[in-house]
Amino acid sequence: MVDLDNKNALVTGASSGIGAAIARRLAKEKCNLFLTGLGETQLQDTKATCEKEGVKVYYKECNFADFTSIDELVKEIKSIGFVIDLYVLNAGISQRDRGLETDFAIDQKIMQVNYWSSVYLVKQFKDEILASKQVNMSVTTSLAGLFGFPLRTSYCASKHALFGFFESLDLEYSNIHVTFLIPGRINTPISKSALKGNGEQYSKMDPGQAKGLDVDKAAQRAVRAIRRQRHRKLIGKSELIMAYINRYIPWLYYKIANKISPT
Ligand SMILES: NC(=O)c1ccc[n+]([C@@H]2O[C@H](COP(=O)([O-])OP(=O)(O)OC[C@H]3O[C@@H](n4cnc5c(N)ncnc54)[C@H](OP(=O)(O)O)[C@@H]3O)[C@@H](O)[C@H]2O)c1
Repeated sequence: MVDLDNKNALVTGASSGIGAAIARRLAKEKCNLFLTGLGETQLQDTKATCEKEGVKVYYKECNFADFTSIDELVKEIKSIGFVIDLYVLNAGISQRDRGLETDFAIDQKIMQVNYWSSVYLVKQFKDEILASKQVNMSVTTSLAGLFGFPLRTSYCASKHALFGFFESLDLEYSNIHVTFLIPGRINTPISKSALKGNGEQYSKMDPGQAKGLDVDKAAQRAVRAIRRQRHRKLIGKSELIMAYINRYIPWLYYKIANKISPT
Protein backbone atom coordinates (compact mmCIF):
# COMPACT_ATOMS: atom_id res chain seq x y z
CA MET A 1 0.00 0.00 0.00
CA VAL A 2 1.22 3.51 -0.80
CA ASP A 3 0.52 6.21 1.78
CA LEU A 4 -0.19 9.33 -0.28
CA ASP A 5 -0.41 11.67 2.72
CA ASN A 6 2.12 14.52 2.30
CA LYS A 7 3.66 12.86 -0.77
CA ASN A 8 4.35 14.80 -4.00
CA ALA A 9 2.61 13.90 -7.27
CA LEU A 10 3.18 15.28 -10.76
CA VAL A 11 -0.03 15.01 -12.80
CA THR A 12 0.12 15.47 -16.58
CA GLY A 13 -3.08 16.26 -18.48
CA ALA A 14 -4.41 17.84 -15.28
CA SER A 15 -6.31 20.60 -17.10
CA SER A 16 -9.22 18.35 -18.08
CA GLY A 17 -11.01 15.01 -17.73
CA ILE A 18 -9.33 12.07 -16.00
CA GLY A 19 -6.15 14.00 -15.04
CA ALA A 20 -8.09 16.81 -13.36
CA ALA A 21 -10.28 14.27 -11.54
CA ILE A 22 -7.24 12.24 -10.38
CA ALA A 23 -5.67 15.48 -9.11
CA ARG A 24 -8.82 16.30 -7.11
CA ARG A 25 -8.85 12.77 -5.68
CA LEU A 26 -5.14 12.89 -4.77
CA ALA A 27 -5.73 16.22 -3.00
CA LYS A 28 -8.41 14.52 -0.87
CA GLU A 29 -5.71 11.98 0.08
CA LYS A 30 -3.58 14.98 1.20
CA CYS A 31 -1.06 14.58 -1.60
CA ASN A 32 0.79 17.73 -2.75
CA LEU A 33 0.51 18.35 -6.46
CA PHE A 34 2.33 19.71 -9.48
CA LEU A 35 -0.22 20.03 -12.27
CA THR A 36 0.52 20.38 -15.95
CA GLY A 37 -1.47 20.51 -19.16
CA LEU A 38 -2.13 22.79 -22.09
CA GLY A 39 -4.88 25.11 -20.84
CA GLU A 40 -3.73 27.59 -18.20
CA THR A 41 -7.23 28.68 -17.08
CA GLN A 42 -8.30 25.06 -16.59
CA LEU A 43 -5.10 24.32 -14.67
CA GLN A 44 -5.86 27.26 -12.39
CA ASP A 45 -9.39 25.86 -11.83
CA THR A 46 -8.01 22.42 -10.88
CA LYS A 47 -5.43 24.08 -8.62
CA ALA A 48 -8.09 26.15 -6.82
CA THR A 49 -10.28 23.06 -6.20
CA CYS A 50 -7.35 20.97 -4.95
CA GLU A 51 -6.09 23.71 -2.63
CA LYS A 52 -9.39 23.56 -0.72
CA GLU A 53 -8.11 20.23 0.68
CA GLY A 54 -5.19 22.07 2.32
CA VAL A 55 -2.43 20.64 0.13
CA LYS A 56 0.32 22.51 -1.75
CA VAL A 57 -0.46 22.86 -5.45
CA TYR A 58 1.81 24.19 -8.20
CA TYR A 59 1.13 24.30 -11.90
CA LYS A 60 2.78 25.09 -15.20
CA GLU A 61 1.40 25.04 -18.71
CA CYS A 62 3.36 22.68 -20.95
CA ASN A 63 2.99 21.53 -24.53
CA PHE A 64 3.95 17.86 -24.73
CA ALA A 65 4.30 18.14 -28.50
CA ASP A 66 7.42 20.23 -27.87
CA PHE A 67 10.50 18.95 -25.99
CA THR A 68 11.64 22.53 -25.20
CA SER A 69 8.37 23.12 -23.38
CA ILE A 70 8.96 19.90 -21.36
CA ASP A 71 12.49 21.13 -20.52
CA GLU A 72 10.98 24.33 -19.09
CA LEU A 73 8.51 22.31 -17.03
CA VAL A 74 11.32 20.14 -15.62
CA LYS A 75 13.38 23.24 -14.80
CA GLU A 76 10.47 24.74 -12.87
CA ILE A 77 9.76 21.52 -10.92
CA LYS A 78 13.42 21.22 -9.93
CA SER A 79 13.81 24.92 -9.10
CA ILE A 80 11.07 24.80 -6.45
CA GLY A 81 12.52 21.58 -4.97
CA PHE A 82 9.42 19.49 -5.72
CA VAL A 83 10.70 15.91 -5.37
CA ILE A 84 8.24 13.62 -7.14
CA ASP A 85 7.03 10.46 -5.35
CA LEU A 86 4.25 9.72 -7.83
CA TYR A 87 4.27 10.38 -11.58
CA VAL A 88 0.75 10.44 -13.02
CA LEU A 89 1.52 10.20 -16.74
CA ASN A 90 -1.90 10.86 -18.19
CA ALA A 91 -1.84 13.54 -20.93
CA GLY A 92 -3.09 12.33 -24.28
CA ILE A 93 -4.87 13.10 -27.54
CA SER A 94 -7.05 10.77 -29.53
CA GLN A 95 -7.58 10.13 -33.24
CA ARG A 96 -10.65 9.96 -35.46
CA ASP A 97 -9.59 8.78 -38.92
CA ARG A 98 -8.48 5.64 -40.70
CA GLY A 99 -4.77 4.80 -40.83
CA LEU A 100 -4.02 5.39 -44.50
CA GLU A 101 -6.00 8.61 -44.47
CA THR A 102 -4.01 10.01 -41.52
CA ASP A 103 -1.04 12.21 -42.51
CA PHE A 104 2.27 10.85 -41.23
CA ALA A 105 2.87 14.15 -39.37
CA ILE A 106 -0.30 13.45 -37.36
CA ASP A 107 0.89 9.89 -36.56
CA GLN A 108 4.10 11.46 -35.26
CA LYS A 109 2.25 14.09 -33.22
CA ILE A 110 0.08 11.48 -31.51
CA MET A 111 3.15 9.36 -30.69
CA GLN A 112 4.94 12.47 -29.41
CA VAL A 113 2.16 13.65 -27.08
CA ASN A 114 0.99 10.21 -25.89
CA TYR A 115 4.28 8.31 -25.73
CA TRP A 116 7.58 10.14 -26.30
CA SER A 117 6.71 13.02 -23.96
CA SER A 118 6.28 10.64 -20.98
CA VAL A 119 9.48 8.75 -21.78
CA TYR A 120 11.39 12.03 -22.17
CA LEU A 121 9.88 13.50 -19.00
CA VAL A 122 10.82 10.64 -16.66
CA LYS A 123 14.35 10.51 -18.10
CA GLN A 124 14.86 14.14 -17.05
CA PHE A 125 14.41 12.93 -13.45
CA LYS A 126 16.82 10.00 -13.79
CA ASP A 127 19.10 11.06 -10.91
CA GLU A 128 16.21 11.77 -8.55
CA ILE A 129 14.52 8.44 -9.38
CA LEU A 130 17.72 6.43 -8.96
CA ALA A 131 18.36 8.11 -5.58
CA SER A 132 14.84 7.44 -4.37
CA LYS A 133 13.77 4.52 -2.18
CA GLN A 134 10.38 4.16 -3.84
CA VAL A 135 8.83 5.87 -6.87
CA ASN A 136 5.34 5.14 -8.15
CA MET A 137 4.24 5.78 -11.71
CA SER A 138 0.68 5.70 -12.94
CA VAL A 139 0.46 5.44 -16.71
CA THR A 140 -2.89 6.09 -18.41
CA THR A 141 -3.12 3.76 -21.36
CA SER A 142 -6.44 2.60 -22.80
CA LEU A 143 -8.47 -0.46 -23.75
CA ALA A 144 -7.19 0.55 -27.19
CA GLY A 145 -3.69 -0.16 -25.84
CA LEU A 146 -4.59 -3.83 -25.49
CA PHE A 147 -5.69 -4.41 -29.09
CA GLY A 148 -6.33 -2.61 -32.37
CA PHE A 149 -9.45 -0.52 -32.90
CA PRO A 150 -10.89 1.33 -35.94
CA LEU A 151 -10.08 5.06 -36.40
CA ARG A 152 -7.32 4.79 -33.80
CA THR A 153 -4.20 3.41 -35.60
CA SER A 154 -1.60 5.72 -34.08
CA TYR A 155 -3.57 6.22 -30.88
CA CYS A 156 -3.53 2.43 -30.34
CA ALA A 157 0.17 2.31 -31.24
CA SER A 158 1.03 5.02 -28.71
CA LYS A 159 -0.87 3.24 -25.93
CA HIS A 160 0.70 -0.16 -26.77
CA ALA A 161 4.11 1.54 -26.66
CA LEU A 162 3.46 2.87 -23.14
CA PHE A 163 2.89 -0.69 -21.94
CA GLY A 164 6.16 -1.87 -23.47
CA PHE A 165 8.34 0.90 -22.09
CA PHE A 166 6.91 1.29 -18.60
CA GLU A 167 6.38 -2.42 -17.89
CA SER A 168 10.05 -3.01 -18.75
CA LEU A 169 11.08 -0.10 -16.51
CA ASP A 170 9.11 -1.60 -13.62
CA LEU A 171 10.94 -4.91 -14.10
CA GLU A 172 14.37 -3.28 -14.36
CA TYR A 173 14.31 -1.17 -11.16
CA SER A 174 13.22 -2.54 -7.80
CA ASN A 175 12.35 0.96 -6.52
CA ILE A 176 9.92 1.74 -9.39
CA HIS A 177 6.35 0.51 -9.32
CA VAL A 178 4.11 1.13 -12.32
CA THR A 179 0.30 1.02 -12.28
CA PHE A 180 -1.31 0.95 -15.72
CA LEU A 181 -4.72 2.61 -15.75
CA ILE A 182 -6.71 1.10 -18.62
CA PRO A 183 -9.85 3.16 -19.24
CA GLY A 184 -12.63 1.99 -21.49
CA ARG A 185 -15.04 4.85 -22.14
CA ILE A 186 -14.98 7.66 -19.60
CA ASN A 187 -17.20 10.72 -19.91
CA THR A 188 -14.60 13.38 -20.79
CA PRO A 189 -14.22 15.75 -23.78
CA ILE A 190 -11.38 13.68 -25.31
CA SER A 191 -13.20 13.13 -28.62
CA LYS A 192 -13.45 16.91 -29.11
CA SER A 193 -9.67 17.38 -29.19
CA ALA A 194 -9.11 14.15 -31.18
CA LEU A 195 -7.25 14.67 -34.45
CA LYS A 196 -8.61 13.94 -37.89
CA GLY A 197 -6.20 12.65 -40.53
CA ASN A 198 -5.44 16.16 -41.78
CA GLY A 199 -4.69 17.44 -38.27
CA GLU A 200 -7.98 19.29 -37.76
CA GLN A 201 -9.72 18.79 -34.44
CA TYR A 202 -12.67 16.38 -34.60
CA SER A 203 -14.58 18.83 -32.31
CA LYS A 204 -17.52 16.53 -31.55
CA MET A 205 -18.58 14.85 -28.36
CA ASP A 206 -18.92 11.18 -29.30
CA PRO A 207 -22.19 9.63 -28.09
CA GLY A 208 -20.20 6.60 -26.83
CA GLN A 209 -17.98 8.94 -24.81
CA ALA A 210 -20.92 10.83 -23.32
CA LYS A 211 -22.42 7.54 -22.07
CA GLY A 212 -19.08 6.53 -20.51
CA LEU A 213 -18.26 6.12 -16.81
CA ASP A 214 -18.45 9.27 -14.68
CA VAL A 215 -14.97 10.81 -14.51
CA ASP A 216 -14.93 11.18 -10.71
CA LYS A 217 -15.83 7.50 -10.28
CA ALA A 218 -13.03 6.66 -12.72
CA ALA A 219 -10.56 8.76 -10.72
CA GLN A 220 -11.63 7.16 -7.45
CA ARG A 221 -10.91 3.69 -8.91
CA ALA A 222 -7.65 4.93 -10.38
CA VAL A 223 -6.33 6.33 -7.10
CA ARG A 224 -7.39 3.20 -5.21
CA ALA A 225 -5.39 1.12 -7.73
CA ILE A 226 -2.36 3.41 -7.34
CA ARG A 227 -2.55 3.18 -3.54
CA ARG A 228 -2.78 -0.61 -3.70
CA GLN A 229 0.08 -0.76 -6.21
CA ARG A 230 -1.98 -2.75 -8.69
CA HIS A 231 -0.11 -3.52 -11.91
CA ARG A 232 -3.11 -3.08 -14.21
CA LYS A 233 -6.54 -1.57 -13.57
CA LEU A 234 -9.36 -1.70 -16.11
CA ILE A 235 -11.73 1.23 -15.57
CA GLY A 236 -15.07 1.61 -17.33
CA LYS A 237 -18.43 -0.08 -17.88
CA SER A 238 -19.58 -3.08 -19.95
CA GLU A 239 -17.11 -2.24 -22.76
CA LEU A 240 -14.36 -3.73 -20.58
CA ILE A 241 -15.59 -7.19 -21.66
CA MET A 242 -13.63 -6.57 -24.89
CA ALA A 243 -10.36 -7.02 -22.97
CA TYR A 244 -11.39 -10.55 -22.02
CA ILE A 245 -12.85 -11.40 -25.45
CA ASN A 246 -9.64 -10.24 -27.15
CA ARG A 247 -7.51 -12.28 -24.78
CA TYR A 248 -9.48 -15.47 -24.43
CA ILE A 249 -11.72 -15.67 -27.56
CA PRO A 250 -9.64 -13.87 -30.23
CA TRP A 251 -11.69 -15.23 -33.17
CA LEU A 252 -14.79 -13.57 -31.68
CA TYR A 253 -12.89 -10.32 -31.20
CA TYR A 254 -12.12 -10.16 -34.95
CA LYS A 255 -15.79 -10.82 -35.73
CA ILE A 256 -17.21 -8.05 -33.54
CA ALA A 257 -14.55 -5.34 -33.07
CA ASN A 258 -15.27 -3.51 -36.32
CA LYS A 259 -19.03 -3.68 -35.71
CA ILE A 260 -18.72 -1.59 -32.52
CA SER A 261 -19.23 2.13 -33.14
CA PRO A 262 -15.80 3.81 -32.82
CA THR A 263 -17.51 7.15 -32.01
N1 LIG B 1 -11.91 9.36 -21.83
C1 LIG B 1 -11.76 8.12 -22.22
O1 LIG B 1 -12.74 7.41 -22.51
C2 LIG B 1 -10.40 7.51 -22.29
C3 LIG B 1 -10.31 6.15 -22.63
C4 LIG B 1 -9.05 5.57 -22.68
C5 LIG B 1 -7.92 6.29 -22.41
N2 LIG B 1 -8.03 7.62 -22.10
C6 LIG B 1 -6.78 8.34 -21.83
O2 LIG B 1 -6.92 9.10 -20.65
C7 LIG B 1 -6.03 10.23 -20.71
C8 LIG B 1 -6.80 11.47 -20.32
O3 LIG B 1 -7.81 11.68 -21.29
P1 LIG B 1 -9.21 12.36 -20.95
O4 LIG B 1 -10.26 11.41 -21.35
O5 LIG B 1 -9.20 12.91 -19.59
O6 LIG B 1 -9.23 13.51 -22.06
P2 LIG B 1 -9.16 15.11 -21.94
O7 LIG B 1 -10.24 15.58 -21.03
O8 LIG B 1 -9.13 15.60 -23.33
O9 LIG B 1 -7.75 15.34 -21.22
C9 LIG B 1 -6.55 15.18 -21.92
C10 LIG B 1 -5.48 15.94 -21.17
O10 LIG B 1 -4.25 15.86 -21.90
C11 LIG B 1 -3.78 17.18 -22.14
N3 LIG B 1 -3.07 17.33 -23.40
C12 LIG B 1 -3.52 17.07 -24.66
N4 LIG B 1 -2.60 17.43 -25.57
C13 LIG B 1 -1.54 17.93 -24.87
C14 LIG B 1 -0.30 18.48 -25.22
N5 LIG B 1 0.08 18.62 -26.51
N6 LIG B 1 0.53 18.91 -24.26
C15 LIG B 1 0.18 18.81 -22.96
N7 LIG B 1 -0.99 18.30 -22.54
C16 LIG B 1 -1.85 17.86 -23.49
C17 LIG B 1 -5.03 18.03 -22.19
O11 LIG B 1 -4.75 19.40 -22.00
P3 LIG B 1 -5.83 20.51 -22.48
O12 LIG B 1 -7.19 20.00 -22.11
O13 LIG B 1 -5.45 21.71 -21.71
O14 LIG B 1 -5.68 20.61 -23.96
C18 LIG B 1 -5.83 17.42 -21.03
O15 LIG B 1 -5.38 17.93 -19.82
C19 LIG B 1 -5.48 10.26 -22.13
O16 LIG B 1 -4.18 9.73 -22.15
C20 LIG B 1 -6.43 9.35 -22.89
O17 LIG B 1 -5.81 8.76 -24.00
C21 LIG B 1 -9.23 8.24 -22.04
